[in-house]
Amino acid sequence: MSMREKLEQLKQWREKIHAGGGPERIKKQHEAGKRTARERIEMFFDPGTFVEINTFAGDPDMAGLKNPGEGVVTGYGKVDGRKVYIFAQDFTVAGGSLGRVHAAKICHVLDLAMKTGAPVVGLNDSGGARIQEGVDALNGYGEIFFRNTIASGVIPQISVIMGPCAGGAVYSPALTDFIFMVEGTSQMFITGPQVIKAVTGEEVTMEALGGAATHNKISGVAHFMAPDEETCLQMVRQLLSYLPSNNLEDPPVYAPQDPPGNPEDLLDIIPDNPNQSYDVRRVIELIVDGGELFEVQPLYARNAVVGFARLNGHTVGIVANQPDHLAGCLDINASDKISRFVRFCDCFNIPLVTFMDVPGFLPGTAQEYGGIIRHGAKMLYAYSEATVPKVTVILRKAYGGAYLAMCASALRADAVFAWPTAEIAVMGPEGAVNIIYRKEIAEAENPAEMRARLTAEYREKFANPYVASARGFIEDVIDPRDTRARLITTLEALAGKRETRPRKKHGNMPV
Ligand code: HXC
Repeated sequence: MSMREKLEQLKQWREKIHAGGGPERIKKQHEAGKRTARERIEMFFDPGTFVEINTFAGDPDMAGLKNPGEGVVTGYGKVDGRKVYIFAQDFTVAGGSLGRVHAAKICHVLDLAMKTGAPVVGLNDSGGARIQEGVDALNGYGEIFFRNTIASGVIPQISVIMGPCAGGAVYSPALTDFIFMVEGTSQMFITGPQVIKAVTGEEVTMEALGGAATHNKISGVAHFMAPDEETCLQMVRQLLSYLPSNNLEDPPVYAPQDPPGNPEDLLDIIPDNPNQSYDVRRVIELIVDGGELFEVQPLYARNAVVGFARLNGHTVGIVANQPDHLAGCLDINASDKISRFVRFCDCFNIPLVTFMDVPGFLPGTAQEYGGIIRHGAKMLYAYSEATVPKVTVILRKAYGGAYLAMCASALRADAVFAWPTAEIAVMGPEGAVNIIYRKEIAEAENPAEMRARLTAEYREKFANPYVASARGFIEDVIDPRDTRARLITTLEALAGKRETRPRKKHGNMPV
């Protein structure tokens, strides 16, 4: 065959690979409301930047090729000009099922991403382990799990679920930093509805069992929910804009933007009545660049708010209590949500800004039996362990163990500021008075009046920012309108912070 003939053959074979499972299966994919792997890749990257690798991996018999691309497309491209590796499972080829070569292609991408320090995005759409390949398929998953683990904290790993993701296959996404799901077309579960029915008799639909809403609202497995694939991929790009490419780099810096709105409004958000709630996101929006908070897990454990924002163009990780839900108490789910986010930020050199208004840990047998002690401890561990700049702003309540868990000075916050409305105490005035003045209240002629008077006295004496300030636990009591400026100056001063911990193999975080 001449060179020209060989080139013509190469072109045909490449087209064959690009055609995936063929027009019929692609039609079925579209009818299911899903794009193909290649369409998704095109939608995701900066136009024209995708470079495919391992195109011809798999069966060398190109003429009789059964599974073009082995059910996964791999390569790299640019997101806002920065390199990102990708693998996209191709459901039109053997249901995107994972066999030996499919796994090897994903592993190759993970190895390259690790070696070159670039994020990896995995688009999952697969029937799971390729049944015909037996233990080779299982081993393939094992190789991926190992790499996900080793890459953790070195490069950002993002999983996007765009179809089925079942059985042990869910554990690769679960080992990565963030999981995105698309409403209506993505499901994750360990055992499907049929197995559940056979074993427990329980009847449940695939969507109710493992759909986007389930994992974003109930299980907390997923971090983001998108209405469609296009929005989902745009959200992944947005997330990447806040992150460095690897743990040795800093996040990209953008042009600073003033928050929209009037800083004066900060004076009216916190109600005078300490028992009334408010939406802490209004505080955050009046402080960060452009008022933009990219919330992580916005639908899960809504008593806590975590997410990425920018201050003076630099990425920060925001953690806040949300008085609008459960009065902003910390519970099991909020502890998990916050501690995982704090650890992510610490891995990737993202300073932490914590807004505190916390009445305590949520009381009750459900929380105690569920192990709030173990889960709450994760927050203490995560904040103590973190060596990125840590700045805390106490907006209102800062009670008990929760005061510490929200990054008080003892956990090595580099700066703690308090608004004049801050109340820092072992517990809330009502509870405290009931304990320390029990006798006086019981013996009073009018116990209710006595309780009210003692509570007011207690609040006056202890529940303010000045006792903690006098002890040096607070750097300054600030005018809320100055919060943005103080945070920017403080973070600028903390840039380049170096703090070391004792050398060890690794700690033993409560999990
Ligand atoms: C081989 C598979 C496959 C698999 C699907 N296909 N899953 N081939 N191994 N695991 C093939 C189908 O045979 C079919 O081929 C094509 O992909 C499309 O599948 P359909 O069933 O027609 O599609 P749909 O109706 O949309 O249903 C999708 C599905 C279903 C819900 C994912 O295919 C399914 O239940 N698959 C099996 C899921 C499963 O139990 N996997 C193992 C999980 S355990 P043709 O040629 O007919 O088009 C696991 C262990 C991992 O993954 C362990 C890690 C430690």
